[in-house]
Amino acid sequence: MLGILFSMKLNAQQLPAKVTYYPHIEPIIRTNCAPCHQPKKAGPFSLLTYEDVTKRGKFVAQVTQSRYMPPWHADPQFRHFANERVLTDQQIALIKHWVEAGMPEGRKRKETPIPQGPYPVRQPDLTVTMNQPFQVPNTNTEEFRFFHLPTHLPQDTYIEAVEFVPGNHVAVHHSRVMADTTNAIQEIDGMSESDPKVKEFQTKPLADAFMYGWVPGNFPVFFPPNTGKKLYANTDIILNVHYAPSPIPLTDQSKVNFYFAKGPVNREVYTLTMNERYITNQPFVLKAETKPIFYMHTGRLPEAISLISIMPHMHLLGKTFLAYAITPTDEVIPLIKISNWDFKWQTTYQFQSLVTLPKGTVIFAEATYDNTSQNPENPYSPVRDITYGWGSKDEMMNLILYYVNYQPGDENIPMR
Ligand code: HEC
Repeated sequence: MLGILFSMKLNAQQLPAKVTYYPHIEPIIRTNCAPCHQPKKAGPFSLLTYEDVTKRGKFVAQVTQSRYMPPWHADPQFRHFANERVLTDQQIALIKHWVEAGMPEGRKRKETPIPQGPYPVRQPDLTVTMNQPFQVPNTNTEEFRFFHLPTHLPQDTYIEAVEFVPGNHVAVHHSRVMADTTNAIQEIDGMSESDPKVKEFQTKPLADAFMYGWVPGNFPVFFPPNTGKKLYANTDIILNVHYAPSPIPLTDQSKVNFYFAKGPVNREVYTLTMNERYITNQPFVLKAETKPIFYMHTGRLPEAISLISIMPHMHLLGKTFLAYAITPTDEVIPLIKISNWDFKWQTTYQFQSLVTLPKGTVIFAEATYDNTSQNPENPYSPVRDITYGWGSKDEMMNLILYYVNYQPGDENIPMR
């Protein structure tokens, strides 16, 4: 489970002579861990107080050194993101040193506030809720379910933020929000991914195959000022929810909040979904006992665009994902690099400011998979050939980009 331990070039002079909890460790934990590790949030235990942290001191030192926690999979040396959660080498060394020194408390002082993240300060304009509570079975197995949530929206409406609200933080592991304008997927409501009918629904062209990817600790996605994403009249929201294994029965009734654009919308937010059709080394078949790599690119972009967010998507066999753009003047623009893909963390990565791509730029992506029996994530034993599909045991290679058409000055628009 734990990644390779980072070798740290550390000399004692860089650390304070005496490392104690309140001045040194508490701000790191409250800022980087407590947003999830508190009651009713995703973390399996609380890390709010000195007592909480000392109870698991060694474990905390271990998971921070391995960079397993805080969970963040995009390589920060390749690109930084607005919603990034990464400890510095210095912070990791402080924790290690403190634990080795016996976790001294130091002089108590005012608690560091827990960051709330960017959050709409107003009520959502539209909330759609699962039609009925879903009973998560007590069978200790994972459940992947689809739900159909009609919006009954009377007219096309620009939205400035989307938010997924899990009904049960313990049960919901992650969720994908899709928008359908065909109104032909109602029947999927409550369906398990193993239902053969899902194969039929996955052929429907969705208005937005990835409106939002939610993982624990994620904040709502915001669009820049004066831009908005169109939610079409009478859209149906389709949820794909991954429920964690549970030994006790749980219920969940999750919802999605939409915040309508308040100011004038000058530019529409579009989705560029690079899907399996963009793959250049077809067919998309992961042969048993192989570690294939697939490549895709957009061809030359017909117009200049400005990227808002990026989200790679693969399933259990995915291992690495790389995306970059090359401009007509051969400038290479790094977009995202994930060297330790983890299916559990389907994160929407928000750029720190708009990333502008001139007309004629090509976006490239490559993904590697491991379909061997050596891969502990392999859902099949014996292993077999895997092809495209919505089910977690099938595979996908998607890169989802939110963008607006370029305007001069976009380079300087920071994200919230
Ligand atoms: C985005 C939410 C989030 C943040 C931030 C976060 N955690 Fe976690 N943590 C989780 C979840 C969810 C799990 C349980 C699932 C897992 O192990 O992946 C977990 C598990 C753990 C575990 C148990 C690992 C195991 O193998 O059982 C430890 C220890 C831990 N976290 C410590 C920390 C520390 C220390 C920080 C801050 C430096 C932190 N976490 C930040 C969500 C988070």
